Amino acid sequence: MDAIIHVRPMKRKDLGMVGEIDRISFSEPWPTNTFAYELTTTYSIALVAEDQEGKVIGAIVVWLVVDEAHVATIAVHPDYLHQGVGSALLSSALLIACRRGATSSLLEVRRSNLPALRLYERFGYRVVGVREKYYQNDHEDALLLNLDRLDEIQLRNFLPSTSV
Ligand SMILES: CC(C)(COP(=O)(O)OP(=O)(O)OC[C@H]1O[C@@H](n2cnc3c(N)ncnc32)[C@H](O)[C@@H]1OP(=O)(O)O)[C@@H](O)C(=O)NCCC(=O)NCCS
Repeated sequence: MDAIIHVRPMKRKDLGMVGEIDRISFSEPWPTNTFAYELTTTYSIALVAEDQEGKVIGAIVVWLVVDEAHVATIAVHPDYLHQGVGSALLSSALLIACRRGATSSLLEVRRSNLPALRLYERFGYRVVGVREKYYQNDHEDALLLNLDRLDEIQLRNFLPSTSV
């Protein structure tokens, strides 16, 4: 059964928990003030997922670059994986991007990140390139993934039933 998930815009009060999830999830976390900066730009779509008690359990930042939605980061707290939270965050952010004029989406992902690759493949992303030694800490390659047509109806299928 899906967790009861609510997806909403990220706010300043969420930054502590968002930073914590980022640090647990990535070997190269974002600098602490980066998420705060994302709240100040017009091109960033920053959302959080919360559980039924209002606890922040995941976050996403998508940059809207003209007609392209670039997934800058997405992470779900390890205690809440495999419950549809990542799908809910990605579909919600892409739907907002769509309504603001995005027609396609692009992202980079570590070659070894199979859970993320499976998530993106389910949404229809395809590998369109490799950025060799993209990651600074261990020089792993990034795969460049593209979703060439954002489809609102298809994206809605990934929303949690409680989403607004
Ligand atoms: C990638 C990531 C965001 C996915 O988050 P998630 O919340 O586990 O994603 P979902 O639950 O939507 O989907 C994951 C799997 O759970 C399954 N699932 C979804 N809802 C489910 C449910 N209610 N019960 C059982 N399984 C479920 C999905 O079908 C999917 O299965 P698959 O991987 O075998 O295809 C998460 O693994 C993460 O935070 N990783 C660390 C950070 C990271 O690498 N981010 C990506 C950077 S590019």
